[in-house]
Amino acid sequence: GERLDFRTSKQRLLVVANRLPVSAVRHGEDSWQLEMSVGGLVTALLGVKEFDTRWIGWAGVNVPDEIGQKALAKALDEKRCIPVFLDEEVVHQYYNGYCNNILWPLFHYIGLPQEDRLATTRSFQSQFDAYKKANQLFADVVNEHYEEGDVVWCHDYHLMFLPKCLKELNSKMKVGWFLHTPFPSSEIHRMLPSRLELLRSVLAADLVGFHTYDYARHFVSACTRILGLEGTPEGVEDQGKLTRIAAFPVGIDSERFIKALELPEVQDHMKVLKQRFAGRKVMLGVDRLDMIKGIPQKILAFEKFLEENPNWRNKVVLLQIAVPTRTDVPEYQKLTSQVHEIVGRINGRFGSLTAVPIHHLDRSLDFHELCALYAVTDVALVTSLRDGMNLVSYEYVACQESKKGVLILSEFAGAAQSLGAGAILVNPWNVTEVASSIGYALNMPADEREKRHHHNFKHVISHTAQEWASTFVSCELNVTIVEAQLRTR
Ligand code: ADP
Ligand code: G6P
Repeated sequence: GERLDFRTSKQRLLVVANRLPVSAVRHGEDSWQLEMSVGGLVTALLGVKEFDTRWIGWAGVNVPDEIGQKALAKALDEKRCIPVFLDEEVVHQYYNGYCNNILWPLFHYIGLPQEDRLATTRSFQSQFDAYKKANQLFADVVNEHYEEGDVVWCHDYHLMFLPKCLKELNSKMKVGWFLHTPFPSSEIHRMLPSRLELLRSVLAADLVGFHTYDYARHFVSACTRILGLEGTPEGVEDQGKLTRIAAFPVGIDSERFIKALELPEVQDHMKVLKQRFAGRKVMLGVDRLDMIKGIPQKILAFEKFLEENPNWRNKVVLLQIAVPTRTDVPEYQKLTSQVHEIVGRINGRFGSLTAVPIHHLDRSLDFHELCALYAVTDVALVTSLRDGMNLVSYEYVACQESKKGVLILSEFAGAAQSLGAGAILVNPWNVTEVASSIGYALNMPADEREKRHHHNFKHVISHTAQEWASTFVSCELNVTIVEAQLRTR
């Protein structure tokens, strides 16, 4: 289909997401420091350049006073960000509660919380009320900044109620909604007590997007089975209104990673790392410290590998970089201590006075350190139990042009559909299988590594974040409907 040229007529785009690309830390009454936020949503959206974009979201901090709010809004304005202020109680019920204790685990097939997990954040209903209230606050800010002709693009499970709120405020607004997580099988989704209301409000959007065709199909099934609506090849129809539904697999700004490898800072980091681990193969894990990433399973598989391959014991090391995330949610706190316990046990078992097999860091790395690590390591280990896409796997591939390292990738990550042919696909629950894949990866001959890498590299550089966003937005503007539909087949 025909394409809009966003370079000549810069389309105004309002991105709405719970998380802004920067999070604020307070330094004084009216002084703020802004730090980069971590996560796939931020990474993908920062790769989008060809629009006149404003980003509306929560700055990750409670700002009860007007002076602070004004100062923060001003600091954010320089980054073309507009804050939505949420008070502490709303954040507790909406973000820690409904989003991260209910929707996130359910959408990743972990299920709904048991009584004791609910008790910490009050009842399901009060959390859902807070969720709706928060979504309404986002809608009010969007409405305040909306100009005719803008495209409004809502993101992720935090904002499923937003399309409906926006259409109620202005029925002419063009509204798209994209989910960065899996949409689960309709049999899982139907467990959600607020299933009807959430589906209906998402359907208020003009265009609904997912990473994979399977997620889109699950969503349509939920609409058919739970709402009794008819699914058509274009989407879902409700009393004459069509909501278009399609798959738009996300990518990264691959050029940014490839170029970074030439920078002197990155080269310096690479030199240090190479010296530090000389004579040993290095395996890499980079994740938010989240229950969906299968970090304990990954470490146990590495232990099994060491157990079964004594000849490798001093010759391989696992670097697991796990940035803490959502630390006010009890499940995440439990995971942190669980991971520490397993790492300690294995290092005690296989370590020596001078070396340990696992280096586990609870922190985020800056971009240059991260690129260096991606470039010098021999194997990347991505063992998500479920993952919408997983951009870490894309970033690793982008940085491996010279080394041609091996990607071990969970079949439950959306990325398995795009990088499956080049990666070694594993079922992360099967520790024996992952352990033997580690052995296979470490012993893989150069020509096989090269072939696999080449396949994935081609994909990563040709399916970028910019292309993802252009396709979504032009589809929302009605220009390339047909093209987007073809992408879902
Ligand atoms: P998710 O969306 O669940 O966070 P993704 O793999 O899609 O998972 O994206 C994670 C993003 O966060 C990537 O861009 C990755 O570089 C970044 N990231 C994750 N862990 C770290 C870390 N420890 N240090 C720096 N960046 C990280
Ligand atoms: C995933 C979600 C994003 C979220 C990110 C980081 O990528 O899809 O919406 O921003 O994790 O989580 P956080 O709770 O810190 O925003």
